[in-house]
Amino acid sequence: MSGTSLDGIDVAMIETDGGERVFPGPALTIPYQEEFRERLRSVLGGVGPVAEVEYELTRLHAAAVGRFLQHHPATAVDIVGFHGHTIRHRPAERRTWQLGDGGLLACLLGLDVVADFRSADVAAGGEGAPLAPLFHAALAAALPKPLAVLNIGGVANVTWIGEASEILAFDTGPGNALIDDWVRQRTAAAVDIDGALARVGRASAPHVARFLASPFFDRPPPKSLDRDDFRPFVPESLSLEDGAATLTEMTAAGVAAAARHFPAPVRDWLVCGGGRHNPALMAALGRRLGAPVRPVETVGWNGDALEAQAFAYLAVRSVCDLPLTLPSTTGVPRPMRGGRRFKRSA
Ligand SMILES: Nc1ncnc2c1ncn2[C@@H]1O[C@H](COP(=O)(O)OP(=O)(O)O)[C@@H](O)[C@H]1O
Ligand SMILES: [Mg+2]
Repeated sequence: MSGTSLDGIDVAMIETDGGERVFPGPALTIPYQEEFRERLRSVLGGVGPVAEVEYELTRLHAAAVGRFLQHHPATAVDIVGFHGHTIRHRPAERRTWQLGDGGLLACLLGLDVVADFRSADVAAGGEGAPLAPLFHAALAAALPKPLAVLNIGGVANVTWIGEASEILAFDTGPGNALIDDWVRQRTAAAVDIDGALARVGRASAPHVARFLASPFFDRPPPKSLDRDDFRPFVPESLSLEDGAATLTEMTAAGVAAAARHFPAPVRDWLVCGGGRHNPALMAALGRRLGAPVRPVETVGWNGDALEAQAFAYLAVRSVCDLPLTLPSTTGVPRPMRGGRRFKRSA
């Protein structure tokens, strides 16, 4: 998995039947080198040397799997789920674009690969995102509900799971991406590490109010976002610290606005993705959400590996001809299969 934060490649192993049996295994994150990260950033939107970057990205994923298998040599892999990297997401145009060459990866690894998880959903009229909800629901089978699983990656998305395990899922607004960009453009760092800037800054209430007035928040779910859809709300005039505090508050405010669409209030918010490492963001969520907010580690999950695990799970569902998306997760008209299998060469 390579998420919109552009931080690196997450590799995770699971054992599963694609249904309720899920046994998470080890995981590894391999950060991108700064040079490749900038090349990947340069093709966001689908411009520039896309083909070359796709080739490099695919080779980096093969190397990442190779590194993982060096660490865990006893692992027998049946199939690899390869999400690739989203460079453009325009479901209204029935188009979503993930870089990553499944055939090349299958060839490099000598393993079967499932890739192209989103395009069938989008072609059928779905949002093509988020895709982790069915995995969240499988993991949460035994937990008290209603429950929200909140993933704070570059974009933030939530899975609401009701008492009968019914699911509602959608993107809530920006996650870390705007905060990362703000810090990267103004300092030598790529991340507001531990929310240090946001904690000393003051959030600008007018900026947050303008952000919350965006029609996105009233739109009924399912709904999804591209990485930069909220770029116009970045508070360019503010100081480094106040801007970081304001963007952090916006992410939390988007999540709180999302909760208005839940069919019933939740007992708990379980948070995964890199945003849960940001104490300023977790504190802002705690202030704005009316229920306990805690990292998924408190229920024994690995919050850095969950998205990668989800695409392993979806790869198995794909080869078992099980749906990957539902009307309540992407707005697709009917439960939808997806993914494309690339056989390893004999
Ligand atoms: N210690 C930390 N302090 C603040 N933010 C952090 C920290 N660790 C990770 N993050 C945030 O998490 C992001 C990576 O999250 P991740 O879940 O991998 O997102 P994505 O799925 O978009 O790749 C980083 O870009 C950064 O914004
Ligand atoms: Mg990531």
